[in-house]
Amino acid sequence: MLELGAGTGYWAALLARRGVDVVAYDVAPPPSLANAWFAGVQPWHHIHPGDERVVEKWAERSLLLVWPTRNETWASDAVDRYHAAGGHHVVFVGEGPGGRTGDSGFHARLGETAACIACTYGVADMACTCGIDAHWTRTFRTALPRWDGAETMLHVYEPARADERSSSRRRERRNR
Ligand SMILES: C[S@@+](CC[C@H](N)C(=O)[O-])C[C@H]1O[C@@H](n2cnc3c(N)ncnc32)[C@H](O)[C@@H]1O
Repeated sequence: MLELGAGTGYWAALLARRGVDVVAYDVAPPPSLANAWFAGVQPWHHIHPGDERVVEKWAERSLLLVWPTRNETWASDAVDRYHAAGGHHVVFVGEGPGGRTGDSGFHARLGETAACIACTYGVADMACTCGIDAHWTRTFRTALPRWDGAETMLHVYEPARADERSSSRRRERRNR
């Protein structure tokens, strides 16, 4: 697997302990003081420095994203780049659209939004997702042990067939 935004590498370490070959990256690998979440924390697994661009050279691996930062676009960019490079499975651990993980474009690309939340509900602080193609389709989802109040689920996506792809505006029309 390729894990991006791995933080302390706790997931990578648990997977490696189960025999999974994991290469993990973070834009600011701990204990770097540049990491807002984990400054000074010793990682559980080796974390390479790198951002969303690294997915292009590891497209033969499944891409793991655990709690990608809310309202930041790097996870959106990563799934686009990974798709374009021929990537085959995205594994996302976090919350659904409107939750505390990823930005609205990320969930739209994964095919999880029936409509653009910004335009449909007039939500001013969410980015418009009209016209974003859903390049991925969910093939599996399961609940995980979670902190109280968190909605953490594990989701698996594969590339959507051409006839399954649709932008949120078209999805909205279809769902009316
Ligand atoms: C909310 S933390 C989640 C960390 C870890 N996946 C977890 O669940 O504990 C988000 C992580 O993404 C990293 N990050 C932010 N922007 C990034 C980027 N462009 N490329 C790679 N990692 C990034 C941060 O440094 C941080 O470690």
